[in-house]
Amino acid sequence: IRPEQDAMSTYSQLFAQHLDTLQRRTRDILQQQGLSGLAIHSGQTHRIFLDDQDYPFKVNPQFKAWLPVLDNPHCWLLVDGVSKPVLLFYRPVDFWHKVADLPNAFWVDFFDIRFLTRPEQVADHLPADKQEWAYLGGHLEVAQLVGLGQPNPEAVLNYLHYHRAYKTPYELECLRDANRLGVRGHIAAKDSFMAGASEFEINLAYMKAVGQGANEAPYGNIVAINRNAAILHYTHLSTQRVPDAERHSFLIDAGVDYHGYASDITRTWAWRRGEFADLIAALDVQQQEIIAEIKPGRRYSELHLQMHHRLARLLQATELVDMSVDEMIHTGVTNVFFPHGLGHFLGLQVHDAGGFMQAERGTHLAAPEQFPYLRCTRVMEVGQVFTIEPGLYFIDSLLEPLRRGEQGKRVNWNKVEALRPFGGIRIEDNVVLHGDGVENLTRQAGL
Ligand code: GLY
Ligand code: MN
Ligand code: MN
Repeated sequence: IRPEQDAMSTYSQLFAQHLDTLQRRTRDILQQQGLSGLAIHSGQTHRIFLDDQDYPFKVNPQFKAWLPVLDNPHCWLLVDGVSKPVLLFYRPVDFWHKVADLPNAFWVDFFDIRFLTRPEQVADHLPADKQEWAYLGGHLEVAQLVGLGQPNPEAVLNYLHYHRAYKTPYELECLRDANRLGVRGHIAAKDSFMAGASEFEINLAYMKAVGQGANEAPYGNIVAINRNAAILHYTHLSTQRVPDAERHSFLIDAGVDYHGYASDITRTWAWRRGEFADLIAALDVQQQEIIAEIKPGRRYSELHLQMHHRLARLLQATELVDMSVDEMIHTGVTNVFFPHGLGHFLGLQVHDAGGFMQAERGTHLAAPEQFPYLRCTRVMEVGQVFTIEPGLYFIDSLLEPLRRGEQGKRVNWNKVEALRPFGGIRIEDNVVLHGDGVENLTRQAGL
């Protein structure tokens, strides 16, 4: 019991400061926009067409930024940045479990909690000047119905998205725990692969180790054996056990949710020693070195370009490509082997908002034309959390045009052919930029 109580007190100590930060941001944007308050809706379920069931409920991220209530539709936060935040907590009379949970949660004392037994009772709690209140949520018809005058103002959303990049100590602790738990799952998944399991079975081992199912996970797990690792968004789970002699490689990209915050971790494992195992080790060195290059004031897109330089040198050193580094990058050859971005912001969402924003009013800087899939162009600053996830893949649909094109004769196709059965490599860590250096949440959790 003691460690859990310690964890509880850590969270309650950090939570006051977290709420102070959110209150300050709320005051600031309300003043800027001449608004009176924010009515933040947890959301509603969506009915499946011609069915009597709903899709899994996904809470509004602006709601879970305030408290870790992730599974309850029809809740509201009424905040003006000054008064104690009002939480309208939906508790239909026939569901008593929520009531039992409440008194133990560390966040309870920080809210003026009122209960709704029916969704429409929200109307009884809204202030008189609700025309001056912004609605934040995904159900504009509800905002209209209850008379909230300002639905999802763009200036408010931009402001909140921009500032969300700077995590509070409470949020960093959530992200640390999301990594601790995720690493437990990754170790179980690796053991399961090494024991001969199928993709489906490995995924079960992961979910069992983290104690979360597919609906709670921040994204669909990628569990890929052999050539499936070359399919970047492979979310199929084969039930087939691959015989030992045909087992080559295993890539797993899987995270967990902790109090509404995501981890996003990838590891690649080789079944046996050899060239592919060496390539994993070499990319791992490059990944750690690029992480060491993260500095406040550098732009994320520049770090991405540096990773292409590193990859080009790796392709040279392993004799996969015989070209100069500049030529390889300039002609797009490194894009063939590393076609996605180096990483993205991480937090309430796995691809957290604000990666392209250059100012709080939302000024957008698109990814460079050469790297259209990059998800972050922002200047890196203290308090931000990123993924760093370089990859090196053997993807047929990208290799074919290279083979036929002008640079085709500079590629060692025998070597490519030998590595194709392994699919590819991605190594993804979650890192925090502090004033005195980078904290690697994933590695420090033991992966
Ligand atoms: N798992 C999604 C990503 O790595 O961005
Ligand atoms: Mn990932
Ligand atoms: Mn990622």
